[in-house]
Amino acid sequence: MLTYTVRGGRPLVGRVAVSGAKNAAIPLLLATVAAGDRCLIHNVPEVSDIAAAADLLRHLGAEITPGYAIEPAITRTDIPAALAGRLRMSVILLAPLVARFGEASTASPGGCEIGARPVDFHLAGLRALGADVREAGGRITCRANHLRGAEIALPMPSVGATHHMILAGALADGETVIFNAAREPEVVQLAEFLNRMGARVAGAGTSTVHIHGVSRLVGAELTLIPDRIEAGTYLLAAAAAGGDVTVEGARPDHLEALLGVLRRGGCGLTATADSVRLRAAGRPRPVDITTDPFPGFPTDLQSPALAWLLRCQGSCRIVDTVFPDRFGGVPELRKMGAQVDTDHGYATVTGVARLQGAALQAAPDLRGAAALLVAALAADGETTIAGADALARGYHALDQRLRALGADINARA
Ligand code: EPZ
Repeated sequence: MLTYTVRGGRPLVGRVAVSGAKNAAIPLLLATVAAGDRCLIHNVPEVSDIAAAADLLRHLGAEITPGYAIEPAITRTDIPAALAGRLRMSVILLAPLVARFGEASTASPGGCEIGARPVDFHLAGLRALGADVREAGGRITCRANHLRGAEIALPMPSVGATHHMILAGALADGETVIFNAAREPEVVQLAEFLNRMGARVAGAGTSTVHIHGVSRLVGAELTLIPDRIEAGTYLLAAAAAGGDVTVEGARPDHLEALLGVLRRGGCGLTATADSVRLRAAGRPRPVDITTDPFPGFPTDLQSPALAWLLRCQGSCRIVDTVFPDRFGGVPELRKMGAQVDTDHGYATVTGVARLQGAALQAAPDLRGAAALLVAALAADGETTIAGADALARGYHALDQRLRALGADINARA
């Protein structure tokens, strides 16, 4: 298990470049299964969630060359529990595997650190497209001679279910319409990739997506957008520690809700089309936050933002409408002197002037672990964060990059 040691209270100064978006890379890598031949994806981040996706594709028969070239020579359509457990998004493989090979199976996902993670929207959508979907013995099995286009109304704008139904519609007979679709930039990028493969997807990025199915998809090439959650995490770390940091690759159009919150908290912000410079000093002003699907405040930045606001000059309320139980790290933050009350769906922060370094234990939620790191950078004295392995799932070289900005941080096994 990896332990981070941080001696806080030092400002962060300098420039940091973010990697390609992990949550765009995953659906794009999995989408190559829908293509009949070689795909190329550039700017893939070196994080362990990507390694999990690559292992899954290799299990199915694909050849992967980091960089990333994928030869989707699929030889099997069953996803074992061990691989499905490492990558929740693997469920979206059901559609392309069924569309191309007539059947597919995977493990039923369990809950995780941020709450229940059901896939009922995914399965209902596949059934609407004519698939025979069964759940038994912890496995989901899906069969169809061919998928038929249909209208699908998502109860919530689920990112994964939107990815999945776009993939399903791309190879279905006729037209599929997705109502209440997720509007995240990662959905837009999946649609762009599929259209380069010969698909006909329109409206991605809006709440209604139209897909005209085609009989076959060919290989395609694409460069990933920068990771808006990684960029937001660095901005929140700089806001909490104080200093002057420029995040290269931070696209303001992907971060509007966060930038508004940072401004209201008292940070100075200067943005170009592909960078954001943040200047901050002292304690933030209190800011109420409610998470929402894009373009609202992202749930993935809720925990790091809460950590930033622990020293606010007053009190504020943080509501997570997407994952109401995503406050698992609060007991650890209390060890540092934080004053946070939580209930189902929200937290109330009463700001304190100082946080004290402490010995903390990270949970497997990578954004919760990032929140402990943000608080440690702002705290007086030394903080250790044990079990911080989850950070490597979504942040490449986080300790090196923070050290380059002036943080006193190291990681050891
Ligand atoms: C994606 O997960 C992201 N993961 C998550 O990021 C992110 O937190 C989430 O979207 C929300 O933005 C990837 O892209 C790999 P959802 P996903 O389906 O698709 C409910 C990170 O830290 N729901 O949009 O699994 C669900 O319970 C990760 O990088 C159903 O009820 O999230 C939740 O309340 C964590 N039934 C809400 O929808 C379903 O069938 C949103 O979930 C599907 C979802």
